[in-house]
Amino acid sequence: MEKIKMDDLVNYCKNYGFIFQGSSIYGGLSNSWDYGPLGRELKENIKKCWWQKFIQENPYNFGIDSAILMNPNVWISSGHVTNFNDPLIDCKNCKKRYRADNLIEEFAKSNNVTIPVEGKSGEELVNIIKSYNITCPSCHKNDFTDIRKFNLLFETNMGVTEDTKNKVYLRGETAQGIFINFLNVQRSMRLKLPFGIGQIGKSFRNEITPGNFIFRMREFEQMELEFFCKPGTDLEWFGYYKNFCLEFLKELGIKKENLRFRDHAKEELSFYSKATTDIEYKFPFGWGELWGIADRTDYDLSVHEKGSKTDLKYLDPITNEKYLPYVIEPSLGLDRTFLTIICDAYNKEVLEDNSEREVLKIHPYLAPIKVTILPLVKKYHTNKALEIYEELCKFYNISFDDAGSIGKRYRRADAVGTPYCITVDDDTLKYNTITIRNRDTMEQEKLNIKEIINYLNKNIKF
Ligand code: GAP
Repeated sequence: MEKIKMDDLVNYCKNYGFIFQGSSIYGGLSNSWDYGPLGRELKENIKKCWWQKFIQENPYNFGIDSAILMNPNVWISSGHVTNFNDPLIDCKNCKKRYRADNLIEEFAKSNNVTIPVEGKSGEELVNIIKSYNITCPSCHKNDFTDIRKFNLLFETNMGVTEDTKNKVYLRGETAQGIFINFLNVQRSMRLKLPFGIGQIGKSFRNEITPGNFIFRMREFEQMELEFFCKPGTDLEWFGYYKNFCLEFLKELGIKKENLRFRDHAKEELSFYSKATTDIEYKFPFGWGELWGIADRTDYDLSVHEKGSKTDLKYLDPITNEKYLPYVIEPSLGLDRTFLTIICDAYNKEVLEDNSEREVLKIHPYLAPIKVTILPLVKKYHTNKALEIYEELCKFYNISFDDAGSIGKRYRRADAVGTPYCITVDDDTLKYNTITIRNRDTMEQEKLNIKEIINYLNKNIKF
């Protein structure tokens, strides 16, 4: 079995209608990507899985859908306007641009040393680069500019005049929309602690070093849960969500040997965080953060309480204690999950007859197309095949393929991860039976037409 390389993955996604370069007919726009017909389906299916496990099946958790544009004071209080900066550094020799913290982290990784960068000033980062003699990965010189701070929030104007009074920000994370609705949700749903609020939506960051396809983008989607609990119970909930998140990824079918926890060392933690763990995935370019899970204490609610002058404390109806809840935040990128799923599921296999097949061994529930209907001989079997198609498409996203040999049609379905192919042949006309083929085992079985829907319901669920 051969795993996919990053360049091949970009081509695969384009050729099969998963992801196209954004604005391509105008020459593209740097790091913008459009999801095609199959990509949209896969993305929706990932969202449905997250929503099912984190909201629908969890009696403690509730979902919202907050606005992208918020009062700019939200971002001032949260600290994003002053602190959501990337430290930018340029190589004077080859003019390559880097994030200074990434440069140091990459150096630390490859030399197996720990060099904390969290919370360091620009000057401190420059000193680290000098003292370790960290060189430019491109030209190997150590001749960098000073560090400039670059704020990641995208700004725009609301209304007709462009002045600072109308300045608003595109949200840099979905989390803030949750914090500012903490009271609304708690009161309207009459909730007692602990409870969580989750949402899925777009976030925007003017990343200075986007790349690795959809790993780091300027416009991306997040699936975030903010779980509010009593101070003192937070570390227990943190441990609970750490495991819950890992189990979720395994349930999506991601191989456990490609996943690992990376607990942040004390020196690495943000000043308000009691504990943070990343779940990392082994991407073709190396281990990278997929999911951030953090104990954020009462930091977010306390800054919004102060900034909005609104009492956000929770009154415990049993003990009469009044306090700001602590927050456990599992924050997952949707596009990064998409990339993970494709990297993990893509295979090139050599079959017994020495032919090769490209196959996306994706969880059947995630598959963009669940079933492909194949009339064996176009002239004789199309009408019956269309009848079956029309019935099944009410329940599942399915496709119809009558072009080329049956073998070629199987290969096309395998390549996009379609878990089942249904072939309509003479037996279908005579006995009402079809042949259903399994993508992974390539085994075939006969079913009566009436049994198809139960068979699919049994095999395609999350
Ligand atoms: N509310 C916390 C928060 O936003 P984060 O670590 O900045 O934390 C959480 O982001 C997750 O969002 C990351 O683990 C990653 O999966 C995804 N993410 C962050 N920045 C991204 C980007 N530029 N492009 C794609 N995904 C991104």
